[in-house]
Amino acid sequence: MELNFISDALETVTCSVLAAYSFEGNPDSSGTVERLPSATRSLLGELRSSGELTGKAYECTLIHRPAGLAAQKLLVVGAGKPEKFDDAQERRLAGTAVRFVRARSAHMLAWVLDSSRPGAARAAAEGAIVADYDADRYRTERNGERRVDKFLLATGGPTPRSETRQSLEHGKIIAEAQNFVRDLVNEPSNTMTPEILAGRARAMAEKVGLKFDVLDEARIQELKMGALWAVGQGSDAPPRMIVVRYEPAEAPVAPVIGLVGKGITFDTGGISIKPSEAMHEMKTDMAGGATMLGVMQAIAQIKPRIRVIAVVPAAENMPSGKAYRPGDVVTSMSGKTIEVLNTDAEGRLALADGLAYAKQLGCTALIDAATLTGAVMIALGNITTGVFGWNQEWVNKVLASATAEGERMWQLPVDDEYRELYKSMIADIANTGGRYGGAITAAMFVGEFAGDTPWVHLDIAGTRWSNDEKPYRAKGPTGAVVPTLVHLLTELAPKK
Ligand code: BES
Ligand code: MN
Ligand code: ZN
Repeated sequence: MELNFISDALETVTCSVLAAYSFEGNPDSSGTVERLPSATRSLLGELRSSGELTGKAYECTLIHRPAGLAAQKLLVVGAGKPEKFDDAQERRLAGTAVRFVRARSAHMLAWVLDSSRPGAARAAAEGAIVADYDADRYRTERNGERRVDKFLLATGGPTPRSETRQSLEHGKIIAEAQNFVRDLVNEPSNTMTPEILAGRARAMAEKVGLKFDVLDEARIQELKMGALWAVGQGSDAPPRMIVVRYEPAEAPVAPVIGLVGKGITFDTGGISIKPSEAMHEMKTDMAGGATMLGVMQAIAQIKPRIRVIAVVPAAENMPSGKAYRPGDVVTSMSGKTIEVLNTDAEGRLALADGLAYAKQLGCTALIDAATLTGAVMIALGNITTGVFGWNQEWVNKVLASATAEGERMWQLPVDDEYRELYKSMIADIANTGGRYGGAITAAMFVGEFAGDTPWVHLDIAGTRWSNDEKPYRAKGPTGAVVPTLVHLLTELAPKK
């Protein structure tokens, strides 16, 4: 999708569809429709009186040969209540416009920009690119002809200032990173083994100029990553530890932020096998790893002055004659021994070695993202990411970035009392803490391997995936938490 500004007066913009939004209550005279010529607005007034135009969120009204405009069609997108409007809503509205016109075979869309809002260009660009994504790689008839190839931001006169241009560029980078994540997550497990994931990470790193390294099975064993190894040992597709580094010369030597992402390319549950009913969804169990790779792709382009290392422990969790068993005791890279009570609690084992390795590489603060528990979905659904951590200052920074980006996150407690639940009879620690508080004990298990290093855990089991198609986004992988983490890293970097 090509993105650009168009500075013609709105009435003279020639394009197949010009789109503006209007608020509930005054759909003919509020929102960006305010900026349209009076002939167009009186037409909208008629539509309002007839009850056709209400301004309810995501309502789409398409007007052919609109009075007062050179554009062939005018699309009015309902923006909902004005008091609820923010950048995140603009993102969804621009996305709604894109998906609406695509479905009607228009390839070009001009979006009326509210130049008084600094975040508008970014939000619109982001919404448009995220909306134009479909999971159709494996369809013999692809959705190719139904994509918007040109998305213009109509300023209605003023040529955009350099910050506005940057804002558009920023939105494009974030959205493309999210779509990269969505592509990886959509990929089925027959074409997404640990080795293939490493290959995709390498290709991304080469494209944007990041350092790349991957540990193969020999190196994983040499470095005594017994926890990751155990998870992967039942599979014919061997595990990998993927490392992508962003180390700009101008950045201070500290902090070094470690982004550790769960990279289970398929989770059968292993010997503690899952029911078959929803097992196919477990191809998405590398979403945390994909997320961290997406964040790296974005910061390589945005170039904040901060050091970041992404570590993705990748493995396939399979039952077989070589598989690890319930009751096995494994020694993690940190030296801590783990009693495996359930082979389906594999993510925390992979993360244990991922965190230990990130610390060995010199990370001074850690964040992990993982599709870790079904329990977090019971608690927060598909809407909100679970946030965990002992270092409240570090947690607060993540939460503040989430708020700034309009992503929903909620902190859950991590108190010492829960530690009792994952004590082992014969090893240092057990890999499950039972059903109750499952998201918490899973998080705390992972945190044990962060030790004294500030650490935040994001359980994205729910938010990795959207169960239904939205007017502004396809069903499936979401690319959640990428915007938050990119925001956080840019905030942490000393300003130029
Ligand atoms: N990958 C799953 C968690 C999951 C479930 C992610 C559904 C996305 C959707 C994880 O490895 C897992 O199996 N967790 C178990 C832990 C239990 C065995 C302690 C769970 O949540 O049931
Ligand atoms: Mn599992
Ligand atoms: Zn899993």
